[in-house]
Amino acid sequence: NLLEKELDKLLSTAPDNEKEKIRKEFDGFAALFGRFLEETGPSVDWDKIEKLPNDAVRDYSTLETPTADTIHNMLNKLVVVKLNGGLGTSMGCHGPKSVIAVRNELTFLDLTVQQIEHLNKTYKVNVPLILMNSFNTDEDTQKVIRKYKNLQVEIHTFNQSCYPRINRDTLMPITKKIDIHNDLESWYPPGHGDFYQSFKNSGLLRKFIQEGREYCFISNIDNLGATVDLNILNMVLNPKDKVQHEFVMEVTDKTRADVKGGTLIQYENKLRLLEIAQVPKEHVDDFKSVKTFKFFNTNNLWAKLDAIERVLAQGSLSLEIIINNKSLNNGLNVIQLETAVGAAMKSFEAGIGINVPRSRFLPVKKTQDLLLVMSNLYSLKNGSLVMSPQRMFPTTPLVKLGDNHFAKVKDFLGRFATIPDLIELDHLTVSGDVTFGRGVSLKGTVIIIANHGERIDIPSGANLENKIVSGNMRI
Ligand code: UTP
Repeated sequence: NLLEKELDKLLSTAPDNEKEKIRKEFDGFAALFGRFLEETGPSVDWDKIEKLPNDAVRDYSTLETPTADTIHNMLNKLVVVKLNGGLGTSMGCHGPKSVIAVRNELTFLDLTVQQIEHLNKTYKVNVPLILMNSFNTDEDTQKVIRKYKNLQVEIHTFNQSCYPRINRDTLMPITKKIDIHNDLESWYPPGHGDFYQSFKNSGLLRKFIQEGREYCFISNIDNLGATVDLNILNMVLNPKDKVQHEFVMEVTDKTRADVKGGTLIQYENKLRLLEIAQVPKEHVDDFKSVKTFKFFNTNNLWAKLDAIERVLAQGSLSLEIIINNKSLNNGLNVIQLETAVGAAMKSFEAGIGINVPRSRFLPVKKTQDLLLVMSNLYSLKNGSLVMSPQRMFPTTPLVKLGDNHFAKVKDFLGRFATIPDLIELDHLTVSGDVTFGRGVSLKGTVIIIANHGERIDIPSGANLENKIVSGNMRI
C-alpha cells in the first residue's frame, strides 16, 4: 500500500549500518498504523465491563515480608527498568526529564542509581538498572551515566523506537529523509508501550532470561515513589496461592485529584488497563467516578520476562492505540500513534493488581510536585524519599502554583529564597507574581493571589496559617 511504499523510500535514505534497525522499527510502525486504519470505534464496549472480582486487587498489607535469607536469591532474579524516553520540556527544561535536580541537587537518575546501589550493597547482589531511552534522551543520558561508572550498579540502556510523524490530512510521513537529529520534529517516540518490542530487539530481554533473571520491575523515572519493593517481589516469585502472576499492576486509591488516571477493569475474563482516551464520550463521567472505579494505575509494573518473550513471539500483544493529535511549530497538523506499557496486562496470564500505599506514587509532573519533594515533608534515605514523621497525616498537601510564573523550574526556584516549611500545610494556591523569603512557614489552607500588574513578596520568617493574601495586603 501507499504508506509502505513511502516507508520504503524513507528507508532507502538511511545510512547502511542503520538500515536493519530502522527496518524493524518501521515494521512496528506499519503494524500500528495498519491497526489504526482498521479499528474504528471505541476499543472497549462499555457494557462488557464487569465488576472487579474480589481477588483481582490484593491489598498491599496482606503481602508477606520475605525472610532475610531469601532476599539475596530473589533479587538475583530481578531487573529494574526505568522509562526514560521523556523530556523535561513541560517544566521548561532542556534535555531528558531525568536530569532535572529534584532534591539536594540530585536528579531523578541520581536518586534511582543511589537506590539500586544501596540495594546491591545491602544484599550483596547485582540488580541491573535498565534505562529505556528515546532518540530524544539517549545522547544526554549516555553522557550523564558515565559518572556512575565506579558505583556498584550495572547500567544498561536501549532505545525505544523512533516513528515518523504523520500528516493528519494525507496520512503520510511528513518527512522524506531519515536525518533524525537535524529534523527532530518529523519523528516521535511512540509512548512507553513500545518497551516490550524494543527491549526484545535490543537483545537485553534474551540476555537477562539466559542469566536466570525472572521478573522486571518497570516504572516511570519521574515517579520518586517507585522503589524496589521486596514484599511484591516475594509475592511474584513465591506466590502463596501457587498462581504464577505474570503481570502485576500497582494501583492506588483514586481520589478526586486523580480522576484522569488509567484504571483497572475486568473485561473478557481478564484484568486490563482502561485509559481515559479509550472511554466513549458519554461514559467519561462514569470513568471519573471514584466509586465505580476505585483504583488508578501508578505505572509501577512487574512482568515475567519469559512471558514477555512468549507474548511477543505469539504476536498477541495488541496494545490499545492512543491517538495524539499535535500541531507543530510550523502549523502542520500531525498525528502520532502511541501505546502505554500497562495496556499489555490483558495479554498475560493471571494478571493481578496490588493496592499499594500512596507513597509508591510520587510523580513529579509540575513544579508544584517539585515543591513538595524539595520540602521538609520528606527526607532522603539511600536515594528514597521518606515522609517526615512530623507530618500528622500521611497525605501530601494539595498545591497549585500559577502556570504563568511558576511552570518553569528556573522561574520556580527563583521565587523561593528557601523552600517553606510545609509540615502542617493542607492546601496552597499561589497565583501571579509572588515571591517567598527565607524560612517561611505555611500551615492549613493558604491562598496567595497577586493580580495582574501586582507583586506580592512574602517576607522572610513569615508564618502564614489559614490565610488569604491578595492585592497590597500587609502580612
Ligand atoms: P509522561 O510523563 O510523558 O506521561 O511519561 P504521563 O502521561 O504523565 O504518564 P503516563 O504515560 O500515563 O504514565 C511517563 C514516563 O514514561 C516515560 C517518561 O520518560 C516518563 O518516565 N516515557 C514516556 C517514555 O519512556 N517513552 C515515551 O514515549 C513516553
